[in-house]
Order: sequence, then C-alpha cells, then structure tokens
Amino acid sequence: VCDPARPRDLLHWYDRHARVLPWRLSPADRAAGVVPDPYRIWLSEVMLQQTTVAAVKEYFLAFTARWPTVTALAAAPDAEVMAAWAGLGYYARARNLLKCARAVASDHGGVFPDTLEGLRALPGIGPYTAAAVAAIAFDRPEVVVDGNVERVMARLHDEHMPLPQAKPVLTAHAAALTPQTRPGDYAQAVMDLGATVCTPRNPLCGLCPWRGPCAAWAAGTQLELPKKTPK
Ligand code: ADE
Repeated sequence: VCDPARPRDLLHWYDRHARVLPWRLSPADRAAGVVPDPYRIWLSEVMLQQTTVAAVKEYFLAFTARWPTVTALAAAPDAEVMAAWAGLGYYARARNLLKCARAVASDHGGVFPDTLEGLRALPGIGPYTAAAVAAIAFDRPEVVVDGNVERVMARLHDEHMPLPQAKPVLTAHAAALTPQTRPGDYAQAVMDLGATVCTPRNPLCGLCPWRGPCAAWAAGTQLELPKKTPK
C-alpha cells in the first residue's frame, strides 16, 4: 500500500483546482450534501471516451435538457438520439448508450446499479465506464484508468515500458494509489491533473502536487513519458 500522503496531497490540490464541468457538482452543492446523479455521470463518461471535454460540454447540456433522466432517454426514438449525437462521432457509442438506458429503465426501474459488478452486467457498459460510474457516482474505490491516468502513472513511477504493453503495470500503480477516502474525487483528481498539469507536451511541473514523489521529475524524463510502441 502506498504512502497515504500521495492521494491526500492530490485531493488537497483538487479541492482548490478542480475544473468546473457541467456534470460535476459545484463545491457549494457538495458542501450542502448534494450527491451526484448516476445518469449524468454515466452520460458524461460515455461522451468523454473519444471526445474532448470542450466538445462534450454542449452535447451534455443538450442531452440532459432534452432527456433529464435515464427513463426519458430510454423512451426516446433511436433516430432522435442518433441525430442529437451527430457531431460527437463514434456512433456505436450512441447505440450502446440507448441499449444501456433501456436496460436500466426496463430491468432496474430506472435506477442505476451501484456496484462495479452491477454496472458491468449492463449492456453497452465497458470496464472503463463501469469503474468511472462506480467511483464518481457511488464513491466506490474502483480503479479508473484513462489516457490521462496512464500518463500520470508512467511519470510518477518513471515507467519506460511502452504503451500498450505497459497498461497492466500502470493500472497496478493506479490501483495501489486509489484511496478508501473520497475515491470518487480522487478518480476525478487524477484525470484533472493529467488534463491540466501533467499534460503530454508542456507539463506544468512547478504546479504539481505530486512533484515531490515524481520519479520522472527526479530523473528529468517527464517529456519522454509515456513511451509508445510505434504503430
Ligand atoms: N475525462 C473523462 N472523465 C473525466 C472526469 N470525470 N473528469 C475529468 N476528466 C475526465
């Protein structure tokens, strides 16, 4: 088990620097005890899979205005959902979105399962989405690994094994760091760190809450990592 100071330092950074995003609760909401809506977390994570945060924002707002609940989305005609998805790309995601919404509506009374296993059993939900929803919507200590997290882990551990071979190693590092305290915020914090500080080309190491323990920073290798096997 890792030094608990690492997740704690990152959560402290997140409390000050979390991005304001339409699917995230505001600090005021959180202070008032508002809990995340699993539908909004699930929808945002599906949209974010191959699309940038900037592009997703307006689609997320349009979808949630038109279909405020998973039951409403499940009742929408396929053609309307596909038309609303136009521009986001990767249309298989929209088909899987509807499949999943209809399963939640018909088999679960419109209530998302609140465990990794329950989410994984839904049609159209893959391992990433299940882990992200379990962590962010239900505050479960699941390991959420996207490209941002892989880069942060490769640098923190100065891991030179190239992707994609390094995936299991980087996932194991991510698992060892995932805290039992505030795992949902932690999952979002690592992704935000990768998106805003530990960026691919010009990482802002001077602003990083993990500079102290960062093995790449110590070795001066952050710009070389993560390595990739040429396609
Ligand atoms: N990218 C994908 N999901 C995200 C999230 N929940 N927070 C920040 N970046 C993300």
